[in-house]
Amino acid sequence: MSDSRSSPGKVTGIRGPGMGRGGPGGMFAAMGSKAKDFKGTMRQLASYLRPFSLTIIVVWILALTSTAFTIIGPWIMGMVTDELVTGISRQVSGLGVVDFGRIASILIMLLSLYLVSALCSWIQGFLMTNVSVKVTYTLRDDINNKLHRLPLSYFDSVTHGEVLSRLTNDVDTVNQTLTMSLTQIITSVSSVVGILCIMFSVNWILTIIALCFLSLSIIFITLIVKQSQKFFKAQQKCIGNVNGHIEEMFSSHIVVKAFCGEVDSVKTFDSLNRELYKSAWKANFLSGLMMPITAFVGNLTYVVICAAGGFFVLRGMITIGGIQAFLQYIRSFNHPLANIANISNILQQTAAAAERVFEFLAETEEIPDPVAALPPPSSRSLIVFDHVRFGYDPAKTVIGDFSACIEPGQKIAIVGPTGAGKTTIVKLLMRFYDVTGGSISIGGDDIRAFKRQDLRSLFGMVLQDTWLFSGTIADNIRYSRTEASDAKTEEAAKAAQVDHFVRTLPGGYGMVLNEESDNISAGQKQLLTIARVILANPAMLILDEATSSVDTRTERLIQKAMDLLMKGRTSFIIAHRLSTIRNADLILVLKDGEIVEQGKHGELLERRGFYAELYNSQFAGREI
Ligand SMILES: Nc1ncnc2c1ncn2[C@@H]1O[C@H](COP(=O)(O)OP(=O)(O)O)[C@@H](O)[C@H]1O
Ligand SMILES: [Mg+2]
Repeated sequence: MSDSRSSPGKVTGIRGPGMGRGGPGGMFAAMGSKAKDFKGTMRQLASYLRPFSLTIIVVWILALTSTAFTIIGPWIMGMVTDELVTGISRQVSGLGVVDFGRIASILIMLLSLYLVSALCSWIQGFLMTNVSVKVTYTLRDDINNKLHRLPLSYFDSVTHGEVLSRLTNDVDTVNQTLTMSLTQIITSVSSVVGILCIMFSVNWILTIIALCFLSLSIIFITLIVKQSQKFFKAQQKCIGNVNGHIEEMFSSHIVVKAFCGEVDSVKTFDSLNRELYKSAWKANFLSGLMMPITAFVGNLTYVVICAAGGFFVLRGMITIGGIQAFLQYIRSFNHPLANIANISNILQQTAAAAERVFEFLAETEEIPDPVAALPPPSSRSLIVFDHVRFGYDPAKTVIGDFSACIEPGQKIAIVGPTGAGKTTIVKLLMRFYDVTGGSISIGGDDIRAFKRQDLRSLFGMVLQDTWLFSGTIADNIRYSRTEASDAKTEEAAKAAQVDHFVRTLPGGYGMVLNEESDNISAGQKQLLTIARVILANPAMLILDEATSSVDTRTERLIQKAMDLLMKGRTSFIIAHRLSTIRNADLILVLKDGEIVEQGKHGELLERRGFYAELYNSQFAGREI
């Protein structure tokens, strides 16, 4: 639980306010972490695009056509104006009339140009969305498949939030870039180049004047962006902190209330929120300056161009239509320019996001199952632990030297203080982790020679940390045997002493457990998982403190069902209440990863060693 708490900052932090691509803050603000290897990541991303290269070429041609047609528009409009002006002057001087026929044909041509441009733009958008959706589908698929190939030790080292953020935010960022930016690069660059060329061809002096004003506004914007960037970064960090705090308080509100931490929590929240307010205010104030300044400089350019243009028209250096087209070009120049400025940021963000995804995909996977795997071992096999050594961290040994030989059908109890390594032994047997020394074998074959699935399906497990999913109670019980009938399900529940409780619930077996299944008690959850194993009817059993949250009376009742289930089946029982394992065929007493004593209950008690001490300590209260 605690690992997911650190995540909200990460999950929501990648794109917050101020980082939106269209907003004034996001327009120029470079945000997010930078990719370590920009080129390499982009090359890798390109490899995902390779199957679509033909579509992408078509998309680019369409984008170019669409842009070219849009650029020509104002120029043709200028032609219409000129035609009108010369016609009017002809009419005034009595030399002729306005040629409306010609104007109409030019307008129809213009209309068709705009129509074709819109069509091209729509088709390219459609094609590109198709590509990006397919690429992100593949990415998500790869991530998901990778999740199942990663060794468990990987999940010990990363938080759930981190993996989640890769699956959601990072893939989403890549998706957006592919949909938007890839074509934007082409349209923006070609727009800027095309517009500049036409502007120069209309009048080079006016173009240079316009460019001077443009550089002025670029200088202003650069200054503002430099200032606002650090506040945007601070804002991002503050959003992460505020979200993290809220998440933590929300998910552990019971703890907060129990320890009267409300006042402190509110105080912490207030200070975090104040910091966010300050940085958000400054960032947004500065970026808010950008629009008025560029608008002002833009209007100033207008005025100057109008004045200079009027002067040129009088001298016959440019037509009125030329001026009109020119003004329109200046208007449409800013947008693609801002896009170009933005694109490098977006590419950086995308590279960072894609890099995180690719890093995850490149994590070392668990050793694959052997190609020539042995057939599934028989349920009546001898299980041998031979000088097993293991540590989660190679430098820190948890299991020192564990050897045991378990006959088929035996009931083995593993006891020992908390942290002795009991659960670890089970995890090694299930091959959640591989031993670092020695070996575990079933029926004489090393467990590494089997397919993991074959090995694991041999065992039915009940753990102390119950694992239920959101769904009905019946579905939870039937998890490994979906085809089981209602009658069989209820029978298993009866044996696990949970049938009566389920019937008192609203909806009975159809009641839906919520995601954390905290709408039933911990003990009831354990009983449900026991019912699940009873129904699964596995070849061998592992019960790891399976009844630790169940009251002693119910425990005794389940005991009968369990004894029946364990009869003739190899079973591993880890229990703290030693009274439940008295009838075990072999008791292994574990201490600090070593077996300190082993034997049957009676023998161990007679020995008056560590086991006897553990056992007597549980009954010490009763004897007094
Ligand atoms: N995933 C893990 N990563 C690192 N250390 C672990 C992990 N799981 C357990 N340990 C450590 O291994 C030791 C044995 O744990 P465990 O086998 O769960 O004990 P127990 O006997 O209570 O079941 C403990 O010291 C514990 O801190
Ligand atoms: Mg344990």
